[in-house]
Amino acid sequence: MSEAGSPQPEKRFSGARASLLEVQDLAVHFPVGAAGWGQPKQMLRAVDGVSLHVEAGETLGIVGESGCGKTTLGRAILRLLTPTAGTIYFDGRDVTRATGAELAPMRRALQAIFQDPFGSLNPRLRVRDIVGEPLVNLGWPRARIEARLVEVMRIVGLPPEYATRYPHAFSGGQRQRIGIARALAPAPRLIVCDEAVSALDVSIQAQILNLLKDVQAEFGVAYLFVSHNLAVVRHLSHRVAVMYLGRIVELSDEAGLFATPLHPYTAALIAAVPEPDPTKTPGPPALEGDLPSPMAPPSGCTFRTRCPIAQARCTVDAPALAQYAPGRFARCHFPGTYRPL
Ligand SMILES: Nc1ncnc2c1ncn2[C@@H]1O[C@H](COP(=O)(O)OP(=O)(O)O)[C@@H](O)[C@H]1O
Ligand code: SF4
Ligand SMILES: [Mg+2]
Repeated sequence: MSEAGSPQPEKRFSGARASLLEVQDLAVHFPVGAAGWGQPKQMLRAVDGVSLHVEAGETLGIVGESGCGKTTLGRAILRLLTPTAGTIYFDGRDVTRATGAELAPMRRALQAIFQDPFGSLNPRLRVRDIVGEPLVNLGWPRARIEARLVEVMRIVGLPPEYATRYPHAFSGGQRQRIGIARALAPAPRLIVCDEAVSALDVSIQAQILNLLKDVQAEFGVAYLFVSHNLAVVRHLSHRVAVMYLGRIVELSDEAGLFATPLHPYTAALIAAVPEPDPTKTPGPPALEGDLPSPMAPPSGCTFRTRCPIAQARCTVDAPALAQYAPGRFARCHFPGTYRPL
């Protein structure tokens, strides 16, 4: 067994061999409400010691229930907030606390697509200005921006004449295509997709997921694909990290994770995915019980209050994220033993 979070110094300091993204022991704690007069503020551990890496051209899925810390993790990686602890390496450089000009190369190479295609596009700007904005910020000349605009509109399957229209003229799926065009404009190496298809109808979801797949095949862009929806994550991911209360509880290649989940939480999530074939028996109901508060997580294994196979040991002994097979990590004392009907 080995800790998944153990550093890989030989990779970290050699630009040629480094992962595109490497995150080590990342923590984001939010101070919330004062406990009382003279008392220190309570800390909400939204992300609590996450280590992962993303290779060029691959998709790492991040899945878990609402409130488990996925968005906070993505925002920390995008450097939209500064982590409480831990380190973020992008293309071999430590960018954890980089500011201003130091962040410029990463700002171009790391882009984002968010959930709400309605809220994330400025309604007062034409599509051409929305998509061109990152390029203007990079100081590209007008003619080069125009050429790139035509190119990315083609890539996302929108007619170039749509560039003069305003966002309100488009459907949800088309707006998400505009969001993808904007993310692709500066030719990024990694895109953080946070619930990128969650607001769309199921049929449109499939179109957008296929577009993201095609873009990856053509341009080799990597995705950190964040969603509460396991089926959606599966569609795109090469590897999947399952989060619970701010931590990774399982990290595996896609095929292994779905065939033989190691963590009971993963097994329960898989069993709860709706069965597309109506002639088959539906799986067990979704996980019972609420997610405990991240301000007061349970002792020992934080999943124990909902775990169908918890033992006395789980109350006192917190499991580490350990490797059980090549590329397969889990945070459980009894990995691979829970199999829902
Ligand atoms: N700015 C903030 N201040 C305080 N708590 C926050 C803040 N942002 C997120 N949280 C809390 O952090 C936890 C994780 O939230 P989030 O990262 O949005 O989870 P997810 O994206 O998995 O739904 C939640 O308990 C949420 O309420
Ligand atoms: S360590 Fe115990 S409580 Fe935690 S997931 Fe494993 S069996 Fe369940
Ligand atoms: Mg979220």
